[in-house]
Amino acid sequence: MTNMKARAAHWNERYRSVGAEHVSWFEPEPNQSLALVQLVAADHNASVIDIGGGASSLAGCLLERGHTDVSVLDVSKEALDAAKARLPKPELVTWIQADLLEWTPDRRWRIWHDRAVFHFLTEQRDRATYRSLLHRAIEPGGAAIIATFGQDGPTSCSGLPVARYSVEALAAEIGPGFTLIGSGGYDHHTPAGVTQKFAWVVLRAEGTSPN
Ligand SMILES: C[S@@+](CC[C@H](N)C(=O)[O-])C[C@H]1O[C@@H](n2cnc3c(N)ncnc32)[C@H](O)[C@@H]1O
Repeated sequence: MTNMKARAAHWNERYRSVGAEHVSWFEPEPNQSLALVQLVAADHNASVIDIGGGASSLAGCLLERGHTDVSVLDVSKEALDAAKARLPKPELVTWIQADLLEWTPDRRWRIWHDRAVFHFLTEQRDRATYRSLLHRAIEPGGAAIIATFGQDGPTSCSGLPVARYSVEALAAEIGPGFTLIGSGGYDHHTPAGVTQKFAWVVLRAEGTSPN
């Protein structure tokens, strides 16, 4: 998939035809993500951006826990509309409808959270764009929480090929300028009852050096 229009159309169609709470990646409670945010968020004023957050309930859960600066970026308007519709006060979240590969961040966040987005970047060029964005968008000393399909995870999702990672390979992909402070794996149970292996890493940003 080569451009924003095609990516937006693909993901909008998935959310529309399958339904935001029936897509394979849906989690009723994003417990793993919440635990990892809690691990790195010194206080609830620490800003968080959910990259490719889609219709995830993470943003709402963070607000419920007292977080005051929560942003969600996704290429799919359909997904963001579904996420907003679930919240009593959607205006408390900053919604960014954008393709991350064509996005220019206008600020920095303390915590960058990405569950199941980086693994769609199967081209080296796109992973380089992602790394560069991460450096531009994260605060010095901030944390990146990135979860992808693990080595024994599925080879595709939503009809698209994915790259699978060990935690070592995932940390190495994100590369210099980040220190690995935690890693592990977990099983995601899809709404259809299939188990998917995930790998996650938490990386501390050492500085802001763009690459
Ligand atoms: C597998 S879903 C994961 C959604 C969410 N992170 C979760 O855990 O429920 C991938 C999400 O990434 C979004 N996405 C895929 N490619 C994107 C891109 N290039 N820029 C922004 N969002 C993207 C999709 O619209 C979709 O919501």
